[in-house]
Amino acid sequence: MKNILVTGGAGFIGSHVIRKLVTSYPEYQIVNLDKLTYAGNLENLKDIENAGNYTFVKGCITDEKLVSEVFATHKITHVIHLAAESHVDRSISDPLIFVRTNLIGTSNLLLCAKNYWADDFDNKLFYHVSTDEVYGSLGMDNSLFTEQTAYDPRSPYSASKAGSDHMVRAFWHTYHFPIVISNCSNNYGPNQFPEKLIPLFINNIINGKALPVYGKGENVRDWLHVKDHADAIDIILHHGKKGETYNIGGHNEWTNIDLVRLMCDTVDQKLGKETGTSRELISFVKDRAGHDMRYAIDASKIDNDLGWTPNYTFEEGLAETVDWYLNNSEWLKNVTSGAYKEYYDTMYAS
Ligand code: NAD
Ligand code: TYD
Repeated sequence: MKNILVTGGAGFIGSHVIRKLVTSYPEYQIVNLDKLTYAGNLENLKDIENAGNYTFVKGCITDEKLVSEVFATHKITHVIHLAAESHVDRSISDPLIFVRTNLIGTSNLLLCAKNYWADDFDNKLFYHVSTDEVYGSLGMDNSLFTEQTAYDPRSPYSASKAGSDHMVRAFWHTYHFPIVISNCSNNYGPNQFPEKLIPLFINNIINGKALPVYGKGENVRDWLHVKDHADAIDIILHHGKKGETYNIGGHNEWTNIDLVRLMCDTVDQKLGKETGTSRELISFVKDRAGHDMRYAIDASKIDNDLGWTPNYTFEEGLAETVDWYLNNSEWLKNVTSGAYKEYYDTMYAS
């Protein structure tokens, strides 16, 4: 029996995690605490919103009173903490909100959990979901991030996530507070807000808009399907060892420009356009400030210790993702117009 608080459950990865937990474990109670920022969209959870084991609470993870009440009301035993400001470009233009949510918000959650659990940590867990970006940037060789790689964050986003990881580990070492952390590579799949590379470019291709590739498009990312990430989170929640870190990755490195060409060709093929049509939309633009060159993950620990490997091949995952955006034009329209936000802001007006 678990009463699980999932933070950021209305976002991209959080909504997949909630759906998986609500449907796979009807005996668990799942509470979704989300502020509904621009990135939080309850349409992502329409199919399970009336499930008997699911509750939504609108609120901010920095709000000590509210978070304490959520712990007490729902007798929370486990936390899966995903709520964050998550987009690097936004962190470059507005770093402080990243410090508030990612660092202060995580610290507040840790303290509220510690206080509510009153230092009785039996059958309790605080699972912190983090990113491979805390490790910094790799060269164009075969090197990989392992769990031992020293932290070297280089954007306000990754620095704020690194700070939150440090705080979580500090609670483990100082108070024997029960934690586990995972650091994952770039996710893609349904319901991702169209500001990140893959959904932004699919949307632009569909609408015949320019595809702004930063610099020369030579930067490399390792891409993992969001459902594979949700599976890994489920396994770590149930079988991860307390105090440990697990790296999660797709063994799936792409330069941005190769990936953009693949997206163009995949959409062209699905829309019956001649191959090469959408490649015309590619436009090289000024590079991102401090742009990390390459991320790549050594995921052998989670494979060896917990038996997790990705299920999706990238070709099938990307094709399925393109289909999802083509078949969910209403979702995309609501998100890009901001209509979803107006609707839920009115519904949850305080
Ligand atoms: P997202 O931006 O899609 O969603 C974030 C969610 O958090 C939204 O629902 C938003 O409303 C909520 N939120 C933001 N600030 C909040 C606050 N102060 N209080 C309560 N809720 C708040 O993010 P995502 O891509 O789903 O990422 C989820 C987590 O996974 C983040 O912690 C991120 O660092 C991590 N991560 C993401 C990726 C990726 O590729 N997207 C990869 C590795 C790790
Ligand atoms: P993004 O999806 O923002 O993820 P992250 O920066 O966290 O890896 O970007 C993925 C890569 O795509 C990154 O190298 C930046 C690049 N990119 C572009 O070239 N153009 C864009 O418009 C965006 C959003 C990203």
